[in-house]
Amino acid sequence: MKSYPLFKVHVPVEDALVGIREVLESGFINEGLQVTQFQNALKEHLGVTNLVVVNSCTSALTMAYKICGVGPDTEVITTAMTCIATNTPIDNLGAKIVWADIDANTGSIDPKDIERKITPKTKAIVIVSWAGTPCDLEAVADVAKRHNIPVVQDAAHAFDSRWNGRPVSEFSDFTCYSFQAIKHLSSGDGGALICRDEKDFELARKLKWFGYDRDAHKDEKGEWKGQRWSADIFPGEVGYKFNMNNVAAAIGLAQMPYIGKLIDAHRANAAVYQKCFANSNVIHSLDVPSQATSSFWVFTALVNDPQIDRDLLLEALNQEGIAAGLVHMPNDSYSAFKESLTDLPETHKFASTQISLPCGWWLGAEDCEHIATRVLELCEKALRNAA
Ligand SMILES: Cc1ncc(COP(=O)(O)O)c(C=O)c1O
Repeated sequence: MKSYPLFKVHVPVEDALVGIREVLESGFINEGLQVTQFQNALKEHLGVTNLVVVNSCTSALTMAYKICGVGPDTEVITTAMTCIATNTPIDNLGAKIVWADIDANTGSIDPKDIERKITPKTKAIVIVSWAGTPCDLEAVADVAKRHNIPVVQDAAHAFDSRWNGRPVSEFSDFTCYSFQAIKHLSSGDGGALICRDEKDFELARKLKWFGYDRDAHKDEKGEWKGQRWSADIFPGEVGYKFNMNNVAAAIGLAQMPYIGKLIDAHRANAAVYQKCFANSNVIHSLDVPSQATSSFWVFTALVNDPQIDRDLLLEALNQEGIAAGLVHMPNDSYSAFKESLTDLPETHKFASTQISLPCGWWLGAEDCEHIATRVLELCEKALRNAA
């Protein structure tokens, strides 16, 4: 039976091995030349400047929240429909999570609900690009600007996504990427933080390494020159051990020449699903704002007919080797966050009806047509059984 994985990472093994060998032979495995090179390659590819490579998106989010002043007796407005990693740093920094609802047709946070939830304690607004599709970045930026609150964009699913043809990082104060095990681009674990403001960028560079400017310890090529612990760490700049190492960077670097084409393949596959589901009354492809160029990490659709048991549908697909799934659970369901509980009807509508289908570069149009056909056939069968 052919299998259709939901996630797969494209690793050009020979190229990666050359890079890893170079790292190992250099005798210096921690952050040095390869991290600098990976950082430069990311800047060039994404068309950005103020980018800091770190060891995970969770680290990037933590640094962004800290720079925003998130801490005890503050609040952060965020979405529950995401990976838990978006929200654990808020709790870990001692702030209160405030959930805003989403629009079930897009999976994205609702700017109007953000505005309703703002209080004098709000230190940040967090947005997530579900499956690689940005939320309405301009509408969120408008609310944020009127209330003078920074926006942190969790773009972990959304490498290479665009808004109005521009880098998504132009529309938020902070943008966080993930290069974790199952992302479009994976260095095993890794992440990046892009800061719009130069001062925030300078602080981020320090926060990633205890509060020291690690770049000051590199030569002009980016190679590590050796430790100098005599530099000062200033009040408010006490940082973390969040830097990436050269082995991870070598794996990421090997993927860079291919990443654009790989994401184009995700987009082409998504177009196949959109066409297959266009006339269905039961399966509704998520709406993609006209300004958005999604990177379609996975393809999410909603099962619109209550007579169809979504979980049984997923089980049937899995039995056929189609690794459809949910990807994330609504974060407000965790009892650790019970003090933040509030009514989120659209979030729960989305969570109970969404299915996320494989759509990556490892599949062709025929594979996606096959998966879409099976989804529709299994839905028809469920409806016949229910009648
Ligand atoms: C939306 C989202 N945010 C953050 C993360 C965390 O990324 P990392 O594992 O790089 O910390 C993930 C990882 O799956 C994610 O899906």
